[in-house]
Amino acid sequence: MPAPYAPARLLFGGDYNPEQWPREVWAEDVELMRRAHVDTVTIGVFSWALLEPREGEFDPGWLDDVVAMLDDAGIGFFLATPTASPPPWFTRAHPDAMPVRADGTRLTHGSRDTYAISAPAYREAARRVARYLADRYGAHPRLRGWHVHNEYGTIDHGPHAEAAFRRWLRARYETLATLNDAWTTSFWSQHYADWDEVVPPRTTQYLTNPAHGVDFARFCSDEMLAAFAEQKAEIRAAGSTAPVTTNFMLPTWNHLEQWSWSDRLDVVSVDHYLDTTGPDGEAHVAYASDLTRSWAGGPWLLMEQSASGIRVGQRHFAKASDRMIRHSLGYVARGSQGALFFQWRASAGGSETWHSGMVPHAGPDTEQFDGIVALGELLDRIDEVARPPAAGPVVEAEVAVLWDANGWWVLQTPHLPHDGLDYATEVRATHRALWRAGVPVDFVRPGADAGRYRLLFVPSLMAVDDATVSWLTAYVRAGGHLVVGRFTGVADEHQRVVTGGYPGRLRDLLGIRVTEILPLAQDESLALSDGSDADQWSERVRLRGAEPLATYTDGDLAGMPAVTRHRSGDGSATYVSTRLAQHSLDRFVAGLLDAHGVRAVVPEAVGTGVEAVRRRAAGGDYLFLLHHGDRPVRVTGPGHDLVTDTPTDAGIVLPTGGVAVVREGPGATWSVTPDHSSTPEVS
Ligand code: GAL
Repeated sequence: MPAPYAPARLLFGGDYNPEQWPREVWAEDVELMRRAHVDTVTIGVFSWALLEPREGEFDPGWLDDVVAMLDDAGIGFFLATPTASPPPWFTRAHPDAMPVRADGTRLTHGSRDTYAISAPAYREAARRVARYLADRYGAHPRLRGWHVHNEYGTIDHGPHAEAAFRRWLRARYETLATLNDAWTTSFWSQHYADWDEVVPPRTTQYLTNPAHGVDFARFCSDEMLAAFAEQKAEIRAAGSTAPVTTNFMLPTWNHLEQWSWSDRLDVVSVDHYLDTTGPDGEAHVAYASDLTRSWAGGPWLLMEQSASGIRVGQRHFAKASDRMIRHSLGYVARGSQGALFFQWRASAGGSETWHSGMVPHAGPDTEQFDGIVALGELLDRIDEVARPPAAGPVVEAEVAVLWDANGWWVLQTPHLPHDGLDYATEVRATHRALWRAGVPVDFVRPGADAGRYRLLFVPSLMAVDDATVSWLTAYVRAGGHLVVGRFTGVADEHQRVVTGGYPGRLRDLLGIRVTEILPLAQDESLALSDGSDADQWSERVRLRGAEPLATYTDGDLAGMPAVTRHRSGDGSATYVSTRLAQHSLDRFVAGLLDAHGVRAVVPEAVGTGVEAVRRRAAGGDYLFLLHHGDRPVRVTGPGHDLVTDTPTDAGIVLPTGGVAVVREGPGATWSVTPDHSSTPEVS
C-alpha cells in the first residue's frame, strides 16, 4: 500500500497561464495570489509551442522567469508536461501523428488534443519535452508535483492505432481463433483469417461488432496509460522524485479504466465541472469526490473546478461564491487535499474566453474575487484536516457501489434492448439516493475486498467475467447484502449472452430466472405493489428461490415479481428488474439502509439541506457541515468549529449557504434544528 498523498498543507490555487499576459500583469498576479492565500499553481499545461518553438529547440527563458517569480513569492507549483496540445510545427513535421476519426477524417492543429497516441513521432516528442522539463526543473524546491499531460482522452482510429491495436489483441488473445470466438465473428461474415485484417472499429455500413468496440476502448485506455508511463519514466530517469499525477476528467465521457491508472499515479487528481445548474450539482460534487477518493484509495486532489461561470448546455451559468465555497469544502470533506481551479485569471482571448477565472475579467474588485479570498482564508483555518490518520480510511463508509469502466463501454453498444440505459446515469442515480440519505459511500472495483461493506450496489453491469461472479457470490456468502440493478450479468466479458434465462451468470445468486426483457415506450410508466413508480424497463421474472419484495401491478406482468431478494446464509442478493423513478429509488435505498443498520453521518441533518460529512485526520474526526438549504439551522454537538473558531457544544447557527468544519469532541452526537433567532417571525 503506497503512503497516502499528504502535502504539507491543503493546496489552494489553480492553473496559471501567465504566457497569455504581458509581464506587468504577472506582478499583479503574484500580489493577488498572496492576498488570496494561494499557495499552489499549475504551470505549463498548454505551453508546448512557446517552450519548444521549433522541433528540438527549447526556449525556457519565460518559464524560468515564472518559476523564479513564484519562488520569490513562496508559491509552489505543479509543473505540467504540455503534451496535450502539440504545436503547429508538430503537425507539419508529422502529419501522420494527427488523430483520425472513425469516419477517416484526419484532424489538424488549431484546437488542442490533436495527437495520435500511438504515433511514434508523438510519443518520442512527448518523452523529449517531459525529459527536458524534468532535467531543468525536477529538483526545484517549490515543485509540488508533476502534472503529466492534461485529461488523456483523444481517440485515434488511424494507421498507428491500427498497428498498436493488433499488437494489443495478439497479446490478449494469442490466436485468431480465440479472437474470432470472443468477438462472435461468425455473425455477419466477420471471421478474420489474418491479423492484418483486424482494424479499429471505423465507420462502416451498419452496426459494428460490440465486442470489437469494447476491446478497442480497453486498448485505448491501456495505450494512453503506456504513454503516461513513458513520461513518468523520463521524469524519474531525470532524478525528480516529486509526485506524479495526471488529471482525470470526471466522466461525462469516459476513455480511461481508472482503477488501473490509479495504481500508477502517486496522486490521483480529478477535474470536476458541474453538469447541471440546479441543486443536483451538490450531489454531483459528492459523486465526483467519492469516486476519486475510491480510485485513490485515500486522499486525492481536486485539480480543477470552475470559480464561477461555466458552460452548461447552451449558456454559461454563474456559480455564486457561497456555492463555490460549499463545493470546495465538499471535495475537501471527502478527502481532497486542496481546492484548485481552472484557471487563475480568466483569459481575454482564445477558445475559453468566457470560462470564469479566480480573477475575473472585471478584476479583483469583484464579488467573485472576494469569494476566492474568503475561500483561501477558510482553507487556512481548516488546514489540520490535511494530515491523514495514522490508520484507516479518510472517510469511513459501510456502503459501496461497484464502478467498472468496462460497464460504461459495454452499455454504449448500439441496439441494446433500450437506448436509454446508460451506465453513468445508473451509477449516479444510486449514488444520489445514498447521498440524499446522508450516508458515506465508497466505490469499489470488481474483486475488491468488500467484506467491510454491509451493502454493495451493482448498477446495470451487463457483462461480467467469471472472477466477478465468484467475487459477488463470495461477498453474499460471507454475509454481505448485494443489490443488483436490471440487466446485470446477462453476458460474459465479451458480451455473449449466457443462455437459459437472464441474468445468466447471476441466476443462481439472485435466485431468479428472467425469461423476457420488456422495455417500455418513452411515455409509459409502471406502478409496483410497494407504491414505487418505474419506467423504461420491465422483465418477466420467475422465482427460483428468491422471494418477491414488490410485484408489477399493471399490464401483462401484473402480479409478477419486480423486485426480489434471495437470502443465502446471513447474506442476501436483491434484484431490481425495472428502473425505479428517483423518488422511489430514494425510498427503496433508505429502506435498505434502515434494514441493515446503516446510519446517516448526522441523521437529524437529513432533509434539512445540511450535508454532513466526516473526514478522519491525524488530529481526530472533523465534521463538515455544508448548508445547501434555504432556512437557517442551529447545529449542536461537542466540538469546535474551525471556520468561526467557536465551540459548538451550545450550538452554532448555520445560515443558508453557510459552512462549518467541526473538530469533534468525544461521543459526538448532533442535533440540527430550525433556527429562529436570525429570522424574525412573520405574522
Ligand atoms: C478542463 C481542462 C481545462 C479547461 C477546462 C474548462 O477539462 O483541463 O484546460 O479547458 O476544462 O472547463
